[in-house]
Amino acid sequence: MPFSSQLFLTFFFSILLLSHQQPPLNPHEQESLYKVLHSINPTIPWRTLFPSHDFCISPPHGILCDYDDSQNDTVSFSHLLQLSFGYVSDESSNPPCSDNATLNSLLFTSFPFLQKLFFYNCFNASSLIVSTPQMLPFSFAFSSTLQELVFIDNPSLVMPIADIILQNFTSLRRLVLVNNGFHGELPETVGSFVNLEEVTLSGNNLSGEVPTSLGTLEKLKVLDLSHNDFHGCVPESFGDGKFMEMVKLDLSHNGFGCRVPESLGQLQSLELLDLSFNKFGNFGVPLFLGKVPTLKEVYLSGNNLGGVIPEIWENLGGIRGIGFSMMGLVGEIPASMGVYLKNLTYLGLDNNMLVGPVPEEFGLLDCADEINLENNNLSGKVPASIRVVGEKLKLKGNTQLCVDDRLMRCDNGERCGLLSQMKLCNKADNDILDAAAFLLSSACGVSSFDPLVLFFSLLGFVFCLYL
Ligand SMILES: *[C@@H]1O[C@H](CO)[C@@H](O)[C@H](O)[C@H]1NC(C)=O
Ligand SMILES: *[C@@H]1O[C@H](CO)[C@@H](O)[C@H](O)[C@H]1NC(C)=O
Ligand SMILES: *[C@@H]1O[C@H](CO)[C@@H](O)[C@H](O)[C@H]1NC(C)=O
Ligand SMILES: *[C@@H]1O[C@H](CO)[C@@H](O)[C@H](O)[C@H]1NC(C)=O
Ligand SMILES: *[C@@H]1O[C@H](CO)[C@@H](O)[C@H](O)[C@H]1NC(C)=O
Ligand SMILES: *[C@@H]1O[C@H](CO)[C@@H](O)[C@H](O)[C@H]1NC(C)=O
Ligand SMILES: *[C@@H]1O[C@H](CO)[C@@H](O)[C@H](O)[C@H]1NC(C)=O
Repeated sequence: MPFSSQLFLTFFFSILLLSHQQPPLNPHEQESLYKVLHSINPTIPWRTLFPSHDFCISPPHGILCDYDDSQNDTVSFSHLLQLSFGYVSDESSNPPCSDNATLNSLLFTSFPFLQKLFFYNCFNASSLIVSTPQMLPFSFAFSSTLQELVFIDNPSLVMPIADIILQNFTSLRRLVLVNNGFHGELPETVGSFVNLEEVTLSGNNLSGEVPTSLGTLEKLKVLDLSHNDFHGCVPESFGDGKFMEMVKLDLSHNGFGCRVPESLGQLQSLELLDLSFNKFGNFGVPLFLGKVPTLKEVYLSGNNLGGVIPEIWENLGGIRGIGFSMMGLVGEIPASMGVYLKNLTYLGLDNNMLVGPVPEEFGLLDCADEINLENNNLSGKVPASIRVVGEKLKLKGNTQLCVDDRLMRCDNGERCGLLSQMKLCNKADNDILDAAAFLLSSACGVSSFDPLVLFFSLLGFVFCLYL
């Protein structure tokens, strides 16, 4: 056999293999897909660029078909599994949406095997036409096989959220509706989508109370309801032994009130808790935080919780960010924050009514990148051992505080930064504090710090002073 025909046969065989692995797209789905593509962007000649016979072999980026071999019908077709629209980046160059993109929900009834539907920055014109026949609520256009439903940055997509989660989405894992125009109350039925792992609904106009049924979703890892208009109490069901895998809970920028539920202390995987800018009542900083050692970030700013900063930091060495601004906090800043929070990079305690000194132990915050203590009533000397300097150490609005000359100098030796407007401490104090800075030095990220070492260092230091 001549070499060339052998090559030809190999080639032919591989085509056969390919076409066996990937049968043509179901013609009904294919036709609807062309119509969807046209409605998303009529300026691109979709039928020419992506001819029907090899659509599934080289589809546009973001579109995935597959052959379901559990269905051994004689005429086998591929089906559409994923549809992603809207240019995200060069690595994720989905079909771009044109200015006059429209959404015809009826077309989506043709995709019974769809698992993922994704729209990014597609509907941002006042003229968006959402074609939804009266008899077909929006969500019934989408298959109940959906695992991911994602709408991000589509401000002209304005409709009740109840319209999109009517369907029995029992396979749904990710419900991500960010910065769209969804409004109204979140229906209780969301609690029956038992496979949900992420519910991110930030930046819509959602209102009313949060359904307690959400608390029954055992697989939920991310719940983000931030930047909406929710009110009422946070259900006790959140954390009542159900959300065991919850990693991120963000309820910030809403109108939630009542008490922060104690049950949240049972979220033993929680890394981010953001309850900032709500209307939680005057019940103090919740003590359960101290029982969640997985915490990396906790933000409670803009709630008038009041009270003193509690001594809860011993097991929270993994915390990187604390936002306790504008909370009506009183009393002194606990020195234990400096001792235990080895990984802290951001600390905001500004705009409270805190008194007393900036703890010397803040010199131990080796990872600190920004410390904001503005607008309190702190007094005494700012510890020279503090590693955060320049613009990132914010102290203004504390008239009783004085600052070491060294802290005011930038790299070029000039006075600079926010601290240069502050009162200067006298020279003798500075020398003592520099010595302390030397004693307290340690490395960022070292988690095995022993508070006893600190104790003896300080003891030795005090002893030296008396010699
Ligand atoms: C698929 O084929 C198997 C045998 O190969 C048969 O038992 C089964 O019933 C078929 N399924 C369908 C949906 O036709
Ligand atoms: C959308 O806009 C383009 C020009 O930007 C125009 O050619 C096209 O006809 C418009 N399509 C619709 C459906 O309005
Ligand atoms: C929507 O369009 C307006 C005006 O063109 C623009 O300013 C805004 O950033 C757009 N929004 C999004 C989410 O892309
Ligand atoms: C939703 O689907 C599940 C399983 O597929 C079924 O048991 C349940 O009855 C359905 N609920 C509704 C309201 O259709
Ligand atoms: C939705 O919220 C935005 C900003 O939060 C606001 O401008 C708009 O009027 C709201 N729309 C409705 C229908 O409430
Ligand atoms: C602090 O951060 C380091 C480096 O990211 C990490 O290895 C360490 O486990 C963290 N400490 C705690 C107590 O989580
Ligand atoms: C600030 O503290 C000083 C004493 O350190 C006290 O006299 C003053 O009243 C306090 N001011 C406020 C606004 O709490």
